[in-house]
Amino acid sequence: MRRSYTYLFLLVAAVIAIAFFYKQTPGPTSSIASVSEGQATGEASIGGPFTLVDQNGKTVTDQDYRDKLMLVYFGFASCPDICPTDLTIMSEAAKQLGDQASKVAWLFITIDPERDTAEMLKTYMGNFHPALQGLTGTSEQIKDAIKAYRVYAQKVPQKDGYTMDHSSFMYLMDRQGKFITHFTHNTRAEDIAKTIREQL
Ligand code: NI
Repeated sequence: MRRSYTYLFLLVAAVIAIAFFYKQTPGPTSSIASVSEGQATGEASIGGPFTLVDQNGKTVTDQDYRDKLMLVYFGFASCPDICPTDLTIMSEAAKQLGDQASKVAWLFITIDPERDTAEMLKTYMGNFHPALQGLTGTSEQIKDAIKAYRVYAQKVPQKDGYTMDHSSFMYLMDRQGKFITHFTHNTRAEDIAKTIREQL
């Protein structure tokens, strides 16, 4: 009996040690590392068809962007810090690409369609590079897009209304709408521009 407890203890200790080791291992910071990480975790299946409404009120689908790469980001207009920061990074990458920026669909898909109407998004996107486009839709359309891109989005009640908790990756998709890689808010704009340029 005593002996089996010892084994159990050692097993638990080993599991904790392994978990600790993995937690301490730094995550990828470069886009190259992201690719291999993405493939290892099955992120290659991120993406898929969507039907949404652009900031001018026009219905769009993923098929409308087939002649371009897509850089897809999910967030919401009233986000206090993460979304504006990431949209600024995307803007900077678009600026660095110059004329080639038009070969990419820079999409900001709202996770908060209740508040982010097309008009609202049009105003909000005025803060960023003109290549960036806001997309909204019905809550069902948004739910489907969130699911296809495996985005985490959760409403969080607050004293005066609610905010949204969400994952914040930028997904780079090829002209067939297939996942290439993702970027995080730690990725520098020049690295995003460089990775995109390699795909053009
Ligand atoms: Ni945000």
